[in-house]
Amino acid sequence: MIELKNITKAYERVTPLNNVSTVINDGDVIAVIGPSGCGKSTLLRMINLLERPTSGKIFVDGTDITAPGYKEYEIGRKIGMVFQSFNLFGHLTALENIMIPQMDLLGKSKQEAYDRAMQLLHSVGMDSRALQYPHMLSGGQKQRVAIARTLALDPEVILFDEPTSALDPTMVGEVQTVIRELAKTGITMMIVTHEMKFAREISSRVFFMEEGGIYEDGTPEQIFENPQKTLTRRFIRGLKVFDTVIDKKNYDFIGVMTDIEQYGQKIRIEKKAVYVLQSIFEELCQQILLKHNPDYKIRFAVEYSEKDDKLKVIVSYNGDLFDPENTDNVISLSILKSRITTLKYAQSPDSAFRNMVFIDI
Ligand SMILES: Nc1ncnc2c1ncn2[C@@H]1O[C@H](COP(=O)(O)OP(=O)(O)OP(=O)(O)O)[C@@H](O)[C@H]1O
Ligand SMILES: [Mg+2]
Repeated sequence: MIELKNITKAYERVTPLNNVSTVINDGDVIAVIGPSGCGKSTLLRMINLLERPTSGKIFVDGTDITAPGYKEYEIGRKIGMVFQSFNLFGHLTALENIMIPQMDLLGKSKQEAYDRAMQLLHSVGMDSRALQYPHMLSGGQKQRVAIARTLALDPEVILFDEPTSALDPTMVGEVQTVIRELAKTGITMMIVTHEMKFAREISSRVFFMEEGGIYEDGTPEQIFENPQKTLTRRFIRGLKVFDTVIDKKNYDFIGVMTDIEQYGQKIRIEKKAVYVLQSIFEELCQQILLKHNPDYKIRFAVEYSEKDDKLKVIVSYNGDLFDPENTDNVISLSILKSRITTLKYAQSPDSAFRNMVFIDI
C-alpha cells in the first residue's frame, strides 16, 4: 500500500502538485489521465523518489520513504518504472539488459539471472531476440524488453509513464497487450496515458488530474461515462470551452461580444451559431438577470462538443435565488426561447454560484 500525505511539489514557476493525499491499494490498476502539464509524470516520479516532494510524506507499506536517511535504492526495487523512452543500455543485448540488474541489485547468480531473463523475454514475446542489441529492435520490441527488465526485479508496483507514446502507431498494440496481460496478474500498477480507450479497459481506478492534484478519483465507469465534476466532464468529452465571469455593474458588453465571436472562429462554428450565443448572453444575462439584480455575479460558459457538433450554455449566478422563467421581461424571455431548444433552471446551494441555467441550442 502506498499512502501520499499532503504532497506538494513546487518548481520555481509552477506547482503541479498542491497538497495531494491518496491511498493506492495493493492490486489497484490506476490509469492517470489529464491535460498536458497537469503533473502526471511528477506524481509518478515522486512515488519512486526520482524526485522529492517539496513537502508532505509518502508511506510505502507503512515506511516513510521521504524520511531523511531512507535509502532511495530500496524503493527502486519495490517500485519499478517503465519510461516513454525505454532507457535500455545500448551496449548490452536484450538479455544482458535484463540479467545485469538482477545480479547487481538482487545478488542473483548468472545462471539464475539468465533463467529468469529468458522466462521474462518469453512472456513478452521477445525470446527469439534475446541476443540482439537495442538498435536492432523496433520501438515496440524495445519497450517489451524494458518491461521485462522492470519485471526482473520482482517489483511490487510498476509505474508506466506513457509507455506507448513514443511508438509508431503500428506498435502500440503489442505493448498494450503486454501491459494488459500484466494487469491481469494482480500486480499494482499506475499508468499515465493519453489513450482513453486503453485507460478505460485496463484500469480498476482512474485519477483525473487537474488544478494541482487528483481532481477526480473514480472507477473507469464513473470517470468515462458519468464524471461527477465539471473539468473531468470537459476533458473526457473533449469539450471546447468559453468561460467568462461578470461581476461588475459596468462590465464590458462589447468585449464579451467580441470574445464570443473569437471563440466561435476558433472552434469553427457557423456565424449563425455565434449570433445565437451572443443573443443568449444579451437577453439572459443583460436583459433578464442584471435587470432583476444588478449585483449578480454571473458566469457565462459555453461548451462545444466537436464529436456531436453540439453547443451548450451554462449560466450560473450568485445572489438571490431566481428562476429566469419568472422574469417580468417577457419579451426578452420569448426572444431567448425562440433561439434555443431547452432551458433548465436549477439551484445548487453548496456551490459558489447558487443559481444555474442549462441551455441546449
Ligand atoms: N524539473 C522541472 N523543473 C521545472 N518545472 C518542471 C520540471 N518538471 C516538470 N515541470 C513542470 O511541472 C508541470 C507538470 O509537469 P509534468 O511533466 O508532471 O506534466 P504531465 O502531466 O506529465 O504532462 P505531459 O502530459 O505533457 O507529459 C509542468 O508545468 C512542467 O513544465
Ligand atoms: Mg508527462
